[in-house]
Amino acid sequence: MYDTIAIRHAEARDLEAVLALLCNLELPTGGVREHFRRFFVAESEGTIVGCVGMEVYERASLLRSLAVAKDRQSRGLGSQLTQYIITEAARLGVHEIVLLTTTADRFFRRFGFEKIAREEAPRDVYKSVEFQSACPTTATCMRLRLAPKSRD
Ligand SMILES: CC(C)(COP(=O)(O)OP(=O)(O)OC[C@H]1O[C@@H](n2cnc3c(N)ncnc32)[C@H](O)[C@@H]1OP(=O)(O)O)[C@@H](O)C(=O)NCCC(=O)NCCS
Repeated sequence: MYDTIAIRHAEARDLEAVLALLCNLELPTGGVREHFRRFFVAESEGTIVGCVGMEVYERASLLRSLAVAKDRQSRGLGSQLTQYIITEAARLGVHEIVLLTTTADRFFRRFGFEKIAREEAPRDVYKSVEFQSACPTTATCMRLRLAPKSRD
């Protein structure tokens, strides 16, 4: 039987565990500390087993650091975390989410992300640490456009 996993906003005390998880999955850690207030974590019995984060810029947001511990993968947690961050972006009025991935482009396509050239990413996202140094230049760049919030 699977144990209960809760997804919640990250707190300062989660930072070390999130960095360890990212290192374990060979994902970039540059900029995580600075943007940690826009991270979500998945917790199981006091252990951080997943995370996802977002860097919010004026013209778009960067989805980053989607990670699920190896022994928890393929049970839907990655999808849940992705849906959480998309919902959060919509709540914040973000029009466009951009991401870079070296391995999971097929995964993100399920949520409507489409491949774009890196240079097509909005300027402020393009200048982020992840774009400029943390993620390999061979990584695939993807974009999801969100419907503008209705005004009523
Ligand atoms: C990508 C990742 C977050 C997915 O997490 P997960 O909990 O295994 O995802 P889910 O269980 O929700 O997967 C749903 C489906 O996506 C598929 N999937 C998972 N990872 C995939 C990948 N890298 N490429 C293509 N499909 C993938 C699964 O096979 C599953 O398919 P199914 O529903 O037909 O069985 C996880 O594999 C991971 O942490 N990978 C290493 C870090 C990484 O690459 N992060 C993304 C860069 S930001």
